[in-house]
Amino acid sequence: MTDVSGLSIGILGGTGDQGKGLARRFALAGHEVLIGSRSAERAQEAAASLGEGVPVRGAANAAVAAEADIVIVAVPYEGHRALLESLRDELAGKIVVDCVNPLGFDKQGAYALPVEEGSAAQQAAAVLPGSRVVAAFHHVSAVVLLDPAVEKVDLDVLVLGDDREATDLVQALAGVIPGVRGVYGGRLRNAHQVEALTANIISVNRRYKAHAGIRITDV
Ligand SMILES: NC(=O)c1ccc[n+]([C@@H]2O[C@H](COP(=O)([O-])OP(=O)(O)OC[C@H]3O[C@@H](n4cnc5c(N)ncnc54)[C@H](OP(=O)(O)O)[C@@H]3O)[C@@H](O)[C@H]2O)c1
Repeated sequence: MTDVSGLSIGILGGTGDQGKGLARRFALAGHEVLIGSRSAERAQEAAASLGEGVPVRGAANAAVAAEADIVIVAVPYEGHRALLESLRDELAGKIVVDCVNPLGFDKQGAYALPVEEGSAAQQAAAVLPGSRVVAAFHHVSAVVLLDPAVEKVDLDVLVLGDDREATDLVQALAGVIPGVRGVYGGRLRNAHQVEALTANIISVNRRYKAHAGIRITDV
């Protein structure tokens, strides 16, 4: 397993529940974590909201993208392309982990939106040719990540990408969250199904009043 200890993690849009949840779990695992926002002040407030036992710093997205070793993208799909276009230089040469689910919602619930490039992760790769884009953490519930009563998070994280070293590293990163296993899920061209599956998981959650995750068997 790749050694990820000592790597710092930045989270763009880390003021949202998903970003804060991941920040909390990585900080508890001993990583240096930076929450990013369009407003440095909001980022600092979000970092402080995680409490004294969870050491996380906050800064503007650009500063976080420049400083962190690994950068997770946790903004809504609507802001995805523009944010990444604005951070192309800061993100060059880095592993960029995309957990964005392009979803729409109507009276029937959640559904997958079409993405010109195929998926949000492929859009990131198209916008960031100098970065190593990996898709992961799509099916991890923010509610569960933020819940202090949940010591072990009972799910697998599917990790997709075209760069074996980068997917190995992100699998190992998923594994620092107690209970979680990172499982390789294919090339980036297959990210659409993984992003879209979130709509099904949201349907499961609504029907069963759950925060469901997935497990891959026989691996
Ligand atoms: N929530 C979950 O359980 C979950 C699970 C798996 C994956 N995801 C994915 O993770 C991403 C974040 O989810 P979330 O629930 O945390 O979302 P969110 O709260 O709606 O947004 C996260 C942050 O993104 C920033 N943001 C909003 N609009 C933006 C824009 N147009 N451009 C740049 N930044 C913008 C905001 O931060 P500032 O205003 O501070 O900049 C916001 O706090 C989504 O793509 C979602 O599909 C979510």
